[in-house]
Amino acid sequence: MRIVAGSDHAGLVLKDHLVARLRAQGHEVEDVGTLTAASCDYPDFARAVARTVADGGAERGLLVCGTGQGMAMTANRVPGVRAAVVSDTFTAHATRAHNDANVLCIGQRVVGSGLAEDILDAFVQTPFEGGRHSGRLTKMMANDGGKA
Ligand code: RB5
Repeated sequence: MRIVAGSDHAGLVLKDHLVARLRAQGHEVEDVGTLTAASCDYPDFARAVARTVADGGAERGLLVCGTGQGMAMTANRVPGVRAAVVSDTFTAHATRAHNDANVLCIGQRVVGSGLAEDILDAFVQTPFEGGRHSGRLTKMMANDGGKA
């Protein structure tokens, strides 16, 4: 699977760990940075990952910051992106199966590396169930400014 990954300084260690693990599993991973521990702004990396996913350059995105929250808020402003903050494996399965989430956001200050590995495995391996969830996705993605 083609996966694009990014982090800020607060997510660097976990992002690098998960990128290396994905590559060892045989996935094709684009790492948009950050690449050093210097303080930086999470929206820069969230936007880069979100745009790549929205443009079809990757099937899934991975974003890591301190909490995952700022990454998800930023990524979800890019049309076509469904970014989810996940800190447990049940939600990792469910947000793929029910919401067809295409960007996974994890907080390095929240989730340990072992749990993050399990969350990412579930996120990569779980297909969208479709069926009754498809119509809900259509409503979710409607570009109606929340008015319809
Ligand atoms: C950086 O200190 C922190 O604010 C950032 O990594 C993230 O948690 C924001 O949502």
